[in-house]
Amino acid sequence: MTNQKKSRAQFATKFGVVAAAAGSAIGLGNIWKFPYITGVYGGAAFLFVYLGFIAMIGLPVMLSEFVIGRKSRKNAFGAFKKLAPKSLWRYIGVFGVGAAFLILSFYGVVAGWSIRYIFFAFSDVFHSGADEINGFFEAFKTSPVKPVLFQLIFMFLTGLIVIIGVQKGIERYSKILMPLLFVIIIVLDIRAVTLHGAREGLSFLFKPDFSKLNYEAILSALGHAFFSLSLGMGTLITYGSYIQKENNLVKTAVKVTVADTLIAVLAGIAIFPAVFAFNIAPDAGPGLIFKTLPNVFQHMPGGAFFSVLFFILLTIAALTSAISILEVVVAYFSEELKMNRHVATIFATVLTSLLGIICSLSLGIFSEYTFFGFNIFNFIDHISANIMLPLGGMFIALFIGWVLGKYKIFKEIAHGGSLSGTFLSVFMFLVKFLAPIAIFLVFMKGIKLLDIITDLIAKVF
Ligand code: TRP
Repeated sequence: MTNQKKSRAQFATKFGVVAAAAGSAIGLGNIWKFPYITGVYGGAAFLFVYLGFIAMIGLPVMLSEFVIGRKSRKNAFGAFKKLAPKSLWRYIGVFGVGAAFLILSFYGVVAGWSIRYIFFAFSDVFHSGADEINGFFEAFKTSPVKPVLFQLIFMFLTGLIVIIGVQKGIERYSKILMPLLFVIIIVLDIRAVTLHGAREGLSFLFKPDFSKLNYEAILSALGHAFFSLSLGMGTLITYGSYIQKENNLVKTAVKVTVADTLIAVLAGIAIFPAVFAFNIAPDAGPGLIFKTLPNVFQHMPGGAFFSVLFFILLTIAALTSAISILEVVVAYFSEELKMNRHVATIFATVLTSLLGIICSLSLGIFSEYTFFGFNIFNFIDHISANIMLPLGGMFIALFIGWVLGKYKIFKEIAHGGSLSGTFLSVFMFLVKFLAPIAIFLVFMKGIKLLDIITDLIAKVF
């Protein structure tokens, strides 16, 4: 990466691209966050809305990010600057860098929990009952020292890999490890669905009761579609800029989306049967997987072994995602602000770690400080995932739909494959109209702005 002007780094192979983009997408979002928010918002109905958003909004926005990245060969900020010179579009990039900071802060905290749980199988609690496992997590999460320590270890690893460089750091590891994670989740699924009481968990996850849905749930489903696919803040613009011209962007986007969604659903299948079998509240919140999965491991042959392996792989999945978030910030600092790449990495890692410490403490000693009823951890999660990412995604869709120009888009998409006219028309319809309008409406309703405005109008007239 030292000689950036002459040759920007590129992914070496086609599988490398899918692996790295999937490595970014698949992470704590699928295995930690998806089950926890599905539990909070009541199960299947939330899942179906989420799947709808993935297909109708997530996939086209992902393709849009790849197009912007590969066409411009720049980071998120530089990309807009190059494609629409002198316009305000570049500030989407800056907004994305801001979102990256926020997301990485709480992401590091949860990844730290995952590191701690690698050792969980060696503790006495692993052999005790569901209540003790629950109590262990609560005590750990609220402690002022231990979770911070593990969070810092994780952030250190993240920074280190980014310093090593794009190809070596990202591509090599994700290729081998993501498939392994997939296998181990399947093993967990098999155990989970054969637990006594599994059926209740499966119907919670798959039998929708749409009366449970409210706009907050719909907004969260939308926010999570962006979060899980790594969209809305320029991660995949940055990754797209490393994709070779011969690569077919549509196929890549479809593969990444399918893999990401599959892992989330499989994680749900591992967790909800256990939630009901061990009498854990489905809406237990951010601790859900740390409270349920140890029970499943405990009740399977070779459980301790699988537990250690699972949390190692979860940590690695979190790492491949975290490096992609950090890469957005680092590419911006080094390519736009001309900072030395190593200095930029250290600077960004330290700043996000500090904010992360505050997030971690907000679950314990700082828990009385709240914003709009959220503690700091949940507030940052909410602002970044449910507000910043959908807005970022809306602007990315608008940019592709209305600014870049059909011809350039088609040419970029057509590299590395043939194109059908119907596909392109559907795609253009989605990015021009459906995605931006849907995002706007859900967003306004979800943050209650629409209610406030209709209220005001009603009062005036
Ligand atoms: N998608 C990752 C996950 O599910 C997290 C992530 C990586 C992300 N890069 C991102 C989220 C960019 C939003 C935007 O764990």
